[in-house]
Amino acid sequence: MALRRGNLIAMRTAINNPFTPGSDTVPVVWAGRIAQLTDWERVVRPRRLSGLPERGRTILGEAGLGKSSLVRLIAATAERQGDWVTPQLRIPAGTDSLKAVAAAVLALADTAGLAVSREKRIRDLLHRVRAVAVQGMSLTLDRAEGPEPYHALSQLLVEVGIAAMRAERAVLVHLDEMQNVTGENELSQLLIALGDALTHEEPVVAPGGVELSRALPIAVYLTGLPDFADLAGARKGATFARRFATTVLTPIDDDDLTMSLRPFVTDGWEVPDGDGGTTRVWMTPEAAAQIVALCHGEPFLFQLAGERAWYAGASSHITADDVREGWAGVVGEASLHVERILERLPERERRFVEVMAALDPADRTLTTIAQRMGFAEATQLGTTAQRLDTIRGIVERGRPYTFRHRAVEAYLTTSWPRIG
Ligand SMILES: Nc1ncnc2c1ncn2[C@@H]1O[C@H](COP(=O)(O)OP(=O)(O)O)[C@@H](O)[C@H]1O
Ligand SMILES: [Mg+2]
Repeated sequence: MALRRGNLIAMRTAINNPFTPGSDTVPVVWAGRIAQLTDWERVVRPRRLSGLPERGRTILGEAGLGKSSLVRLIAATAERQGDWVTPQLRIPAGTDSLKAVAAAVLALADTAGLAVSREKRIRDLLHRVRAVAVQGMSLTLDRAEGPEPYHALSQLLVEVGIAAMRAERAVLVHLDEMQNVTGENELSQLLIALGDALTHEEPVVAPGGVELSRALPIAVYLTGLPDFADLAGARKGATFARRFATTVLTPIDDDDLTMSLRPFVTDGWEVPDGDGGTTRVWMTPEAAAQIVALCHGEPFLFQLAGERAWYAGASSHITADDVREGWAGVVGEASLHVERILERLPERERRFVEVMAALDPADRTLTTIAQRMGFAEATQLGTTAQRLDTIRGIVERGRPYTFRHRAVEAYLTTSWPRIG
């Protein structure tokens, strides 16, 4: 149904708008993250399928950087290849995460056909994990019935892995919002359950009768806010690092964002015309450049700017004016996006970022920042600077220091998100 405005047919509607700010689906206008996608395709999946050890992946980053979307895209790719993947599993705050994880592993066990197994051992295991899905951590206190919940979970995951190995498929487990697992014992159990399945060595007999052992084709992705690094790193330390490789996402490069808008600029973006056919919506090169400039590498803001520009007019061409007009309506939301990130920072880290922003870019050294913050020695701020760099991905400790989080920088040093 094409909307008529006077003589004009509205080409751009809410129904055919391809931008998806804040949605949990994998965005169709996708930009970058090539390193992480390639890591799955070329390293994690082939190695695990070949029985080689490969660590799980932890992908952390501030809100809106695209952690969930990234791993959902990896999972969608895997599923298309026939792999077995968990549905998006967000760990809810303040609840027993073991229950949610048990439910996910049970779903994988179904996919693997274990539910109809005639082996008593597997039936017992399923029974046990079903109890974990209902009772979670409270089962820990009630040992009479069997092994600790985490042990049952990891055993079942191993069985799923063995079935996957036979079927020559990979298993992908994705747990999102890991920062919500705050109970220390709960987190331990969870990480041990997953880690034990990852490091499990399954004896196999190679052609020719040689006995070998191999890893199972199980891959684990954990995503969440940077706080998770503190929870897992500080307490579980070396074991965690041996079992999981951590990446902190940074904003998307402007080049990647520009490339993702290329189809709009060159061929037009195909959309339903509302009459059973299709039509195309174009973007002028200036409009595309304007979107890229406004969002400062933040995927959430990129989708928001695109969506608003889409709605700012109805014609077949999105112009730079459309982008500006659309953006003017979301200045408050864009501010809030950055303010939330700043508000969540511990006091000292937040002051560090503010003091650093107030300095001339060339003067942004640890020594000067420390002085301005009233510290006698730069070393007193060493940990703060390190955390802002390696854990949060907000600053980069070069000479001088620079901002990795470009929207935070723009917010603190310019009138952005206001235009002009
Ligand atoms: N690589 C990407 N390219 C384009 N848009 C993206 C990309 N990654 C995420 N997005 C968009 O950014 C927003 C935030 O993504 P999300 O995965 O929810 O972030 P996070 O989980 O880090 O908070 C969503 O609207 C999503 O569609
Ligand atoms: Mg998310």
